[in-house]
Amino acid sequence: MTTSIPLDRRLAVDGGRPVRPPDRPWPRWPIPAPDAAPNLAAVLHGGRWAISSPTVGDGVLFERRFAADFARYVGSRHCVPVDHGSSALVVALESLGLGYGETVLVPALTWTASATAALRAGLVPVLVDVDRDTGCVGPDDLDLSVDPRAVVAVHWASNMADMPALDAVTGPRDISIVEDCAQAHGATWQGRQAGSFGRLGCFSFQHGKVLTCGEGGAVVTDDDRLAPVLEELRADSRRYRGDRTPPGELDLEESAGVQGANFCLNEFSAAVACAQLATLDAQHEVRNRNYRLLAELLADVDGVRLLQPAAAQTRISIYEGTLVLDDLPTGMDNAAVAAALTAELGKRFYLTDEPLHRSKLLQPWTKPLLAPLAERFAAIHADRTYPKTEWLAAHTVQTHHSTFLGTEQDMHDVATAVTKVLTR
Ligand SMILES: Cc1ncc(COP(=O)(O)O)c(C=O)c1O
Repeated sequence: MTTSIPLDRRLAVDGGRPVRPPDRPWPRWPIPAPDAAPNLAAVLHGGRWAISSPTVGDGVLFERRFAADFARYVGSRHCVPVDHGSSALVVALESLGLGYGETVLVPALTWTASATAALRAGLVPVLVDVDRDTGCVGPDDLDLSVDPRAVVAVHWASNMADMPALDAVTGPRDISIVEDCAQAHGATWQGRQAGSFGRLGCFSFQHGKVLTCGEGGAVVTDDDRLAPVLEELRADSRRYRGDRTPPGELDLEESAGVQGANFCLNEFSAAVACAQLATLDAQHEVRNRNYRLLAELLADVDGVRLLQPAAAQTRISIYEGTLVLDDLPTGMDNAAVAAALTAELGKRFYLTDEPLHRSKLLQPWTKPLLAPLAERFAAIHADRTYPKTEWLAAHTVQTHHSTFLGTEQDMHDVATAVTKVLTR
């Protein structure tokens, strides 16, 4: 293994020889867990493809099995699976029973769904800046002047937001925290799992996530009152029967306490999610070991470091590995660095999602249903600035977590490429 600079110092992006030979493949993603295929076959031939299908024999729905397994994994009393991470945020926010047009704080540095979910729940997202060290919203970023009723606390890239510190501000003011854990499955803060701190925790199982079933999501909560509301919100006002289901009937009953919609996770996805969950922690170990090694290898390279969590975060969950370029190389912005690394390594390096205050994906005024909320949204955001978010957007380069699922040699290749690009 070597981190020495190849003789050809010309960047691959300029026609030089790449650091990593094209015949050395990167780990593929997703990696089907051993039980994925048998679980899928069981659904295919088992006669129940949806949670709204009638019972067949004594078979337990994979969706219910996953809910129990995932609740246990996170350490929450309840888990309600849904079809997407976005839906998880929508039903979580709806379950709070807030008034139409009330405000929800959302960090500017996140995927668009963290904010659009608030609009879909009839609320106005108010974008706030993030902590420059972690990339997550911190207690000083909470803007109480807009009288927020909730905060979507996004755990970003590989870092957790400081939940106890956020809680110290929001708790006394009766502001609910919804944790957005789409990028943080299995992350821990002083040994406690992401998702178990907020009033509700929301997860995505979309293809790229560390726990995936293609498309899927879940809400976890310890709140016994909110759990049945969440069930109805995601299954057209129905929830699971308390008693044993008569043969050939539906496990869902029309309890109809609240207006729901159909956000149900289908059985194929649930079957895959059950299988993948069993491999999650072993993959965390590989990724986190490689991440630590890369951090060591980059320690002597000027101007760059790997994003690090707050000291109280006991385990990182790497959705995206993030290089922080404290000093941008002369004549290059971070987009040029990302393109150069991609060319050297044959693995995609890219910029973080466009911050939401200037993301073209956030267009509430294009939907008539959202127009009144959009107007308020535009008015609130006329004069806001997000300097720490902007700094991170301009000084970071990311790569998918699968970059870290391989060997030590892979980390040496990344370190070599970073050194080559930054010292060209
Ligand atoms: C922070 C964050 N929140 C929410 C979501 C939405 O999840 P989904 O794509 O499953 O709807 C994502 C997906 O990338 C995300 O990264």
